[in-house]
Amino acid sequence: MKVGVIGAGTMGSGIAQAFAQCEKVDTVYLCDIKQEFADGGKAKVQKSMDKLVSKGKKTQEEADEVMAKFKTGLNDICVDADLIVEAALEVMDIKKECFKNLMENIVKNPDCIYASNTSSLSITEIGAGLPKPVVGMHFFNPAPVMKLIEVIAGANTPDSVVEKVIEISNDLGKTPVKVNEAPGFVVNRILIPLINEGIFVYSEGISDIEGIDSAMKLGANHPMGPLELGDYVGLDIVLAIMDVLYKETGDSKYRACPLLRKMVRAKKLGVKTGIGFYNYADGGKVPTDK
Ligand code: 3HC
Repeated sequence: MKVGVIGAGTMGSGIAQAFAQCEKVDTVYLCDIKQEFADGGKAKVQKSMDKLVSKGKKTQEEADEVMAKFKTGLNDICVDADLIVEAALEVMDIKKECFKNLMENIVKNPDCIYASNTSSLSITEIGAGLPKPVVGMHFFNPAPVMKLIEVIAGANTPDSVVEKVIEISNDLGKTPVKVNEAPGFVVNRILIPLINEGIFVYSEGISDIEGIDSAMKLGANHPMGPLELGDYVGLDIVLAIMDVLYKETGDSKYRACPLLRKMVRAKKLGVKTGIGFYNYADGGKVPTDK
């Protein structure tokens, strides 16, 4: 199987790694709007593979085999793809335009499946007006590790396409859960408001950053506290999802915390910009309120 991954950011490169590690996949086209971005995504995968080799989880030969499946470039390298997974920016027009161009001008395989890794946008709206159906294939960060894939059926997604994506998800060693389209689907509908609530708790001075994260790790057995998870996912992504939940439902329980919006405006997005609730300078992780 040949897979085109559109967008070589955190999610795109992680998704590309998950596919390249699958026996049934022989080629991964990792694409972005600039060659250097696509190469940067491949470099992230290389780093992750090097780590697996140094831990003894993979041999050097196995890692080399995984890396040899990669071809990087612009979207136009996806000519013979069997599956496209779009992990571009969470902007409706960008996603629609990207699929339109792939379907009409680039991909020649008539059976190619078109999937979006959108974290909350409507699959029905992404697919509206396009010549082929679109399905949701939602991975979780870090994509090579997290077991779940939400498989999302839009209002016009044929069952056959949904079933095929469920089969591919199983081939990847993941656990697919079929969900109907709704803002945030299942996980982000529950998880992102939890992170947002953690930010409210902080902004109300109820505890400090480490206190809030420790409380949820030790009191609820979460692997990460809400503030470190927000930094990890990216506070811009958290805000975008809160805004979609609010806009789509009109329910004030989904209002974004003003502190979250302020931090996004200040480009304090978490790990990816080196600072969020924690400061990640020099590979560290120091709460910004200390
Ligand atoms: N790529 C590949 N492997 C990774 C990785 C990455 N980016 N990050 C961690 N790993 C691997 C490690 O190599 C390690 O593998 P091993 O057990 O085989 O040695 C394993 O994952 C565990 O990692 P660590 O030992 O370094 O650290 P932890 O035990 O603390 O686990 C974690 C790290 C898996 C990230 C864990 O903290 C966790 O599960 N956090 C919560 C993540 C989460 O909630 N994700 C969902 C976010 S929401 C989302 O993505 C949806 C989107 O739409 C917004």
